[in-house]
Amino acid sequence: MFSKKTIKDIDVNGKKVLVRVDFNVPVKDGVVGDDTRIQAALPTLNYLLENGAALILCSHLGRPKDGPDPQFSLKPVADYLSRVMGKPVAFAEDCVGPVAEKAANGLTPGDILILENTRFHSEEKKNDENMARQLAALADVYVNDAFGTAHRAHVSTEGVARFLPAVAGFLLEKEIKYLGQAVADPEKPFVAILGGAKISDKIGVIKNLLSKADAVLIGGGMANIFFKAQGYPVADSLVEEEAVETAKALLAQAGATLRLPVDIVIADGFSADANHKTMNMGPVPDGWRILDIGPETVANYTKVISEAKTVVWNGPMGVFEFSEFAKGTFGVAQALADTEAVTIVGGGESVAAVKKSGLAGKITHISTGGGASLEMLEGLTLPGLAALQDK
Ligand code: 3PG
Repeated sequence: MFSKKTIKDIDVNGKKVLVRVDFNVPVKDGVVGDDTRIQAALPTLNYLLENGAALILCSHLGRPKDGPDPQFSLKPVADYLSRVMGKPVAFAEDCVGPVAEKAANGLTPGDILILENTRFHSEEKKNDENMARQLAALADVYVNDAFGTAHRAHVSTEGVARFLPAVAGFLLEKEIKYLGQAVADPEKPFVAILGGAKISDKIGVIKNLLSKADAVLIGGGMANIFFKAQGYPVADSLVEEEAVETAKALLAQAGATLRLPVDIVIADGFSADANHKTMNMGPVPDGWRILDIGPETVANYTKVISEAKTVVWNGPMGVFEFSEFAKGTFGVAQALADTEAVTIVGGGESVAAVKKSGLAGKITHISTGGGASLEMLEGLTLPGLAALQDK
């Protein structure tokens, strides 16, 4: 299934290995928040070190606009990694040019160097060949382990792979195996659960999953758009108006595969302590808004999930940040935790919800990718993967 060479297929002993990691983690006032992506890179980093490599790590952080910007520096991440790995991690204040070259030249096996944010150079996002050559010149081998950024054709994810032997790390391999298998050849019944506020960035995903899945369960703001497309007044509910016509078209072609909530939780304001009640799906009264799926819907979805062999989930079912409106999302998380099926959760918000529910340990695979996992579910080829050497 995984057709690319991995770090197990090459000899890294005595080599300088440039590893593209996705260390795009939350950093506030120099403090690293959720470190999931850092932890997820460790198996690859440890394997390379154990096999005699010196590591040159590169990543982006955030979306800096005009060159270097201290709030997007990877320095706090370097310090954090040093604590996690229990060894020194050097930091170079530029990812290419003399500063990076000097730092890379001095490396010996077992050393770790992190290069400053690749997006401090505008050439990174333009996939500039000159920058790719400069980055490649620092190392002997390139490893892509940045699944979360593999959908970007940038210098550090795609361009650099043309100038070095280029293979996949363990995280990239694992993500592609789970998400690729789920979409290309899922064990059936295959159930997809989609939520979140918007449809516009998920149209390709919905279409692809409707053609592959036995059931596509809808919740969250996405359901509101379908309700509106069905002609229901949704009062103050969040609705992505531009997407209503698309939702109508999807409803017309989807048939019974697409399942919508049969009951909803409505509130008279957008706050944790708003008045709220449960109603069967129907016209939402003026002054009210939909903030969650209802208990009967959770029960229906739970039954479908319990009969599945493969389940993928992207996007929360309601405003789970407010406990009164978290029951739908946590109910679905519980259904995933309880099923025997292979369960895969992707996308920042649904991953955060699963972690908050305390059930993360019961999910087969929690993706480190947001946009990248969506592109996989859409059936697209990720440029960062395509650029690597075939087995
Ligand atoms: C992500 O967080 O989804 C990845 O790190 C990619 O970031 P980007 O959307 O800024 O390219």
